[in-house]
Amino acid sequence: MGILTQISILVLLFEANVLGQDFDLDPDTEPPLVKLPTFSYSVDSGLYYGQYVQYPYECASECFCPPSYPFAMHCDNRNLKIIPNVPHHIRHLYLQFNSIEAVSESSFVNATSLTEINLSHNKIKSSAVDQGVFAKMKNLLKLHLEYNNLENVPAPLPSTLQRLSLGFNQISKLTADAMQNLLNLTMLDLCNNKLTDSAFKGKILLRMKSLMQINLCNNKMKSMPSDLPASLMQLSLENNLISSIPVEYFKKTPNLMSLRVSYNKLQEVPYKVFNLSSLMELNLGHNKLTKAFFIPRSLEHLYLDHNEFVDLNVSLMCPSVDYATPNLLTYIRIDQNKLKDQLNNFVYTCFPRIQNIYYGEQKVVQHYIAPPVYEPVLPRFSEIVPLVPASDPVLVEKEYTYTYTESWYN
Ligand SMILES: *[C@@H]1O[C@H](CO)[C@@H](O)[C@H](O)[C@H]1NC(C)=O
Ligand SMILES: *[C@@H]1O[C@H](CO)[C@@H](O)[C@H](O)[C@H]1NC(C)=O
Ligand SMILES: *[C@@H]1O[C@H](CO)[C@@H](O)[C@H](O)[C@H]1NC(C)=O
Ligand SMILES: *[C@@H]1O[C@H](CO)[C@@H](O)[C@H](O)[C@H]1NC(C)=O
Ligand SMILES: *[C@@H]1O[C@H](CO)[C@@H](O)[C@H](O)[C@H]1NC(C)=O
Repeated sequence: MGILTQISILVLLFEANVLGQDFDLDPDTEPPLVKLPTFSYSVDSGLYYGQYVQYPYECASECFCPPSYPFAMHCDNRNLKIIPNVPHHIRHLYLQFNSIEAVSESSFVNATSLTEINLSHNKIKSSAVDQGVFAKMKNLLKLHLEYNNLENVPAPLPSTLQRLSLGFNQISKLTADAMQNLLNLTMLDLCNNKLTDSAFKGKILLRMKSLMQINLCNNKMKSMPSDLPASLMQLSLENNLISSIPVEYFKKTPNLMSLRVSYNKLQEVPYKVFNLSSLMELNLGHNKLTKAFFIPRSLEHLYLDHNEFVDLNVSLMCPSVDYATPNLLTYIRIDQNKLKDQLNNFVYTCFPRIQNIYYGEQKVVQHYIAPPVYEPVLPRFSEIVPLVPASDPVLVEKEYTYTYTESWYN
């Protein structure tokens, strides 16, 4: 038995060649094997006997399973309406770009080896997903369900899951039972759904103790999601309706490296809110910010474009200079604000790594008092036509953009 085990490892190396050959398949032999093919092997002669191979190659007729890697079943782009029966040995199942409407248990009765399913770009509705169909897959690591018509997370999900993509659906709520056992989930993508603040009630996210990345862009959230797990490193919240960040918000996520809150409604952020020791990327573009805030040492890229800054007070961003452990900021984007001048040169002292400050175009607002408009009043008996102001003087606000030229930099 020990020899056979060693041999099957050897056989692994030849797998591609061996599977490429034409072996006679006997339909009456034992059910397909889960693991790699095993071979009867004569130790004495040192030869393979091809006719004894228990060949695992079973594939749905609609799909393609590459001979060189028969554990993948490719069924994408085939105009399928129904998921074919998935053989026992299949680990990777590709069904993207079809017209599949339902996920029924009957397709998966034998499919216990699946580690990855791609069902993106289909027409799946929540009501047509069999209850618990995914939870039965005890080896599933990745599940792609983006670009469907789901209204709910297809709960329950297997606790083995590591990556879950649910973008571009119609999901408006998350339920505790859908999310509670996902202890190994590292990536959760829920961008382009209909999530509101109430979706995150009940410490739903807090339970995902391995979560490193959560994407919540293009939803309808008005505030920052509550109760994020401490493991989080990337938080993506672009294009929501968020208007504030609570002072202590990031205390629970000290490992955050990347924060994207562009295209929201932020007018102000608490001065020290981003004092995080690992933060490298901060994108606050397309908001209504006017006031500078503390920049942590670790930050490398700062995006403040399309805001309302009239100036960016570098002393506020950098209240003290530590020459021993300098700040790591290399890039600031600050175009499409209302800057009247370039940043104070102190910026190069405090952020010695700065390579580029992108000023681009600035919106300049000019105020002036428009003269009143005079209109002639028709005289009755007088020959002199008096001019009477028809309106009071008005304060006019005129906005135009101004591009800073190179000479600005020196
Ligand atoms: C499951 O496997 C058994 C045994 O190989 C087979 O008879 C049956 O048709 C399979 N069912 C499906 C739905 O593939
Ligand atoms: C799954 O399908 C999407 C298309 O929506 C594609 O971008 C992705 O690469 C696929 N994943 C794999 C592993 O093939
Ligand atoms: C979660 O991951 C750990 C470490 O990789 C692993 O030991 C454990 O079996 C996983 N849990 C589940 C339910 O898959
Ligand atoms: C930032 O946090 C560190 C460590 O938590 C602390 O020592 C430092 O004083 C804080 N800086 C500011 C400006 O609050
Ligand atoms: C920048 O902020 C500091 C600290 O609040 C303040 O003393 C200083 O006047 C500000 N500078 C400008 C140009 O507003």
